[in-house]
Amino acid sequence: MRTFETANEDETIAAGVEIAKSLPERCIVRLEGNLGAGKTTITKGFARGLGADESEVASPTFTLIHEYGPRLVHVDLYRLESDREFWTLGLEDYFDRNCVVLIEWASKFRHLLPEETMEVRIEHKGGNHRTITVS
Ligand SMILES: Nc1ncnc2c1ncn2[C@@H]1O[C@H](COP(=O)(O)OP(=O)(O)OP(=O)(O)O)[C@@H](O)[C@H]1O
Ligand SMILES: [Mg+2]
Repeated sequence: MRTFETANEDETIAAGVEIAKSLPERCIVRLEGNLGAGKTTITKGFARGLGADESEVASPTFTLIHEYGPRLVHVDLYRLESDREFWTLGLEDYFDRNCVVLIEWASKFRHLLPEETMEVRIEHKGGNHRTITVS
């Protein structure tokens, strides 16, 4: 388990860059954190670390899957309600690629995900402080 303490947005992006560089080429990352914790912010760091354009990173809106370059896929399961809806996404295609699949709200569908996943958790520690753990 690795931990990062950050005190501003840029430090969280930098942590994302570092984490991304340490990930296996192919992996599934559950991105956990409350509203405003910094999930979108750290995703910019993942994009930068994996050679993609971080300016494309936005909070997923109606599009549930975003591809940032060939090595990063960003999925948001927040609006999905049923297992059937989950299966219509076709995430298995991404799991079979050499890319990092970053999943927000993964805990809702943990029972449908492959067993081997990693977790990046962002905790709000008051003010601009965040604790980020990778496990
Ligand atoms: N240390 C920090 N790390 C990350 N963001 C920070 C930090 N300190 C302050 N912030 C601010 O907190 C906000 C984090 O927003 P962000 O959109 O990344 O969160 P989120 O987890 O994606 O939220 P949501 O659940 O609404 O999608 C930004 O406005 C950012 O500037
Ligand atoms: Mg967000």
